Amino acid sequence: MATPIFTVRGLVKKYDGKPVLEGLDFDVRRGESLVILGRSGSGKSVTLRQLNGLEKPDSGTVSFDGVEITSMHEKDLYPIRRRIGMLFQGGALFDSMTVEENVSFPLREHRDMDEEEILERVRQKLSLVGLKDVEELMPSELSGGMKKRVALARSLALDPEVVLFDEPSTGLDPMTSALIAHLIRQSQASLATTSVVVTHDIPLARHVGDRVAFLCQGTFSFLGTWEQADQTSDQVFGDFLAGRMGDEDAA
Ligand SMILES: Nc1ncnc2c1ncn2[C@@H]1O[C@H](COP(=O)(O)OP(=O)(O)O)[C@@H](O)[C@H]1O
Ligand SMILES: [Mg+2]
Repeated sequence: MATPIFTVRGLVKKYDGKPVLEGLDFDVRRGESLVILGRSGSGKSVTLRQLNGLEKPDSGTVSFDGVEITSMHEKDLYPIRRRIGMLFQGGALFDSMTVEENVSFPLREHRDMDEEEILERVRQKLSLVGLKDVEELMPSELSGGMKKRVALARSLALDPEVVLFDEPSTGLDPMTSALIAHLIRQSQASLATTSVVVTHDIPLARHVGDRVAFLCQGTFSFLGTWEQADQTSDQVFGDFLAGRMGDEDAA
């Protein structure tokens, strides 16, 4: 079997002495879509920031494509991050930039392309998420769903091998959320990327996830297929899937 794209072993991350990740072990397989579920504050965003080396763990390792990134210096991580796209929680477009400037931002940072190539790439990524003739618009002129789509186009701009999605449907209505789920799946299939999707939107998770993990008390209490998830004996995960959870996750 091909080596996993990510190998995570014994990952521990604490803030102010308080452990958030307590010995996380998992692999992300090449070409799969792995969904990470968990309650608010369980450490899902923290886990994603470990995968692209934005933060260092207290102990444990993360390897990307066979190379340990945990001990790497910032400048050595630069070429790695180019291969890992990230859709941040909240979408986070630059408000003072047009759609074109937002989507081309990673290209201008990382690639030596002329203006024509950049524009062409921007149009291609926007068309992948179903947008046309929006290049000159400002984020304030877009709906929530369109902003997410532009952010998705931006995360795909560098043709990454892996895309990390942090809560891609938060704040969207169910129909727009279903569209985003569809676009994540479609872009993954057409670009042959690997996806790691953090969410607590269960319909989206079911649509996009080949496998699903449940982050609880610093480790994955479950990691398997949806078929296995639907038969889980893990009560907390079962309750989560059935929607029997604390209201704090309603957001
Ligand atoms: N930079 C940080 N400094 C201090 N505490 C943090 C930081 N990032 C995350 N945490 C804490 O780690 C826990 C998990 O956060 P997070 O990964 O954002 O949760 P979620 O699963 O909702 O994405 C929370 O208790 C949060 O307060
Ligand atoms: Mg989060």
